[in-house]
Amino acid sequence: MDLLEKIVSLSKRRGFVFPSSDIYGGLGATYDYGPLGVELKRNVKERWWREMVYRHDNIEGLDAAILMHPTVWKASGHVDAFHDPMIDDKASKRRYRADDLIERHIEKLETSGKGKQARDVRTRFVAALHSDDMPKELHRIILDEEIRGPDSGAFDWTEVRQFNLMFETHAGAVVDDETKIYLRPETAQGIFVNFRLAQETARQQVPFGIAQIGKAFRNEIVARRFIFRMREFEQMEMQYFVCPGTQMEHFEEWRAKRMQWHIDNGVRPERLRWHEHEKLAHYADAAFDVQYDFPMGWQEIEGIHSRTDFDLKRHQEFSGKKMEYFDPHRKEKYIPYVVETSAGLDRTILMLLCEAYEEEHIEGEERVVMKFHPEVAPVKAAVFPLVKRDGMPETAQALAADLRGHFNAFYDDSGSIGKRYRRMDEAGTPFCITVDGETMETGSVTIRDRDSMSQERIPKDNAADYLKDRMRTWSRSA
Ligand code: GAP
Repeated sequence: MDLLEKIVSLSKRRGFVFPSSDIYGGLGATYDYGPLGVELKRNVKERWWREMVYRHDNIEGLDAAILMHPTVWKASGHVDAFHDPMIDDKASKRRYRADDLIERHIEKLETSGKGKQARDVRTRFVAALHSDDMPKELHRIILDEEIRGPDSGAFDWTEVRQFNLMFETHAGAVVDDETKIYLRPETAQGIFVNFRLAQETARQQVPFGIAQIGKAFRNEIVARRFIFRMREFEQMEMQYFVCPGTQMEHFEEWRAKRMQWHIDNGVRPERLRWHEHEKLAHYADAAFDVQYDFPMGWQEIEGIHSRTDFDLKRHQEFSGKKMEYFDPHRKEKYIPYVVETSAGLDRTILMLLCEAYEEEHIEGEERVVMKFHPEVAPVKAAVFPLVKRDGMPETAQALAADLRGHFNAFYDDSGSIGKRYRRMDEAGTPFCITVDGETMETGSVTIRDRDSMSQERIPKDNAADYLKDRMRTWSRSA
């Protein structure tokens, strides 16, 4: 089993992530978060919100509806241009993103020492992405480079065709073109259309940001790799409205801050890198992705985009409503430029699962342990009575109840202590507390550290403060 398969299996077994509608055989590219997964996800959202909204007094929160006026998507360009270039392998009947196939081919050339060929293909690839007939040019590269179907190994391709990724539905009882609406493919447009209302009600001045966490939907044609590419997923987006001409300085500021946030969540810096976009969208003047070294290779988890004034200008044009801002310092009106930070919540979760997963061999036995940063760990502490008698269960339950006033704590009295430790290791619980005979005499408990498996005794009444301190000062090598 490769690492991703192990994570898929652990996720289902331990309640992180389940296939959606599992009893009906699942629904492609749609997943549900189980009891542990939902805690992990809430912790990540909470950390993002705290970092973006609470730590910046010039960033406001927003929660816009998923369903929006259909003209929003005409103005944003999604109706006309939210396409992926797809190609079918006739042998395996599988469909792939043509640009993905070529990027992977280039990476393979690079890793097998064919640097010159890799550079030549990349030059052609970049030209193809900018050409007027992008599908045809991508198709030519695939044929010329004899790129084979990743699943079949065959060389039997269809043409490259463009597919729109937006999910359509209808508002009301009548199903026709007049009632057609879309499930939002990004949360960002909810921010753009509320720009004036949010700015005026919060009395913010440029530069300021609006942040939002919410669902987005894309009818991904190639939806594989677990929660990496889903049809229903969550984004954590922030649009930062700035004075035209200052966007690059804010772009660099947000690049640094966003990379640091991932590192602060416990991700090893060497597993993160920047990837500059080969082709800028027509409205962007800079775009970089944060990539993580997933088991299937380097892949995007977050995009930092300098989107100019494109979106606000288009909404002004399509709605007829002014999107201008009067700058009291410059004493002039302008449509602000936007620097966007757009992170995928589910991809962040997959990254944290990959980053945490470790297999260790301890005295002839294998231990699977999820070494999450304690601040994102679903359960912070588990409390065990050593045996189910002599008042230990009652004391342990009272301690767990006390800890729950501070963070998510779990009580467990079933099975041997060793088995209880293993269960908590797989759940990624950083601390296990055992109530034993000595507790009943002296009031001290043992605290077992998930990562080092070392144990120490502390007074049980200090447990909450002690654990909070340990969580705050955690580092991977500890
Ligand atoms: N507002 C800009 C925007 O939506 P994007 O690069 O298309 O930009 C931003 O998406 C982030 O959303 C990506 O970096 C990724 O983490 C996440 N994302 C996009 N499509 C996704 C999908 N099908 N499944 C899971 N996450 C996705």
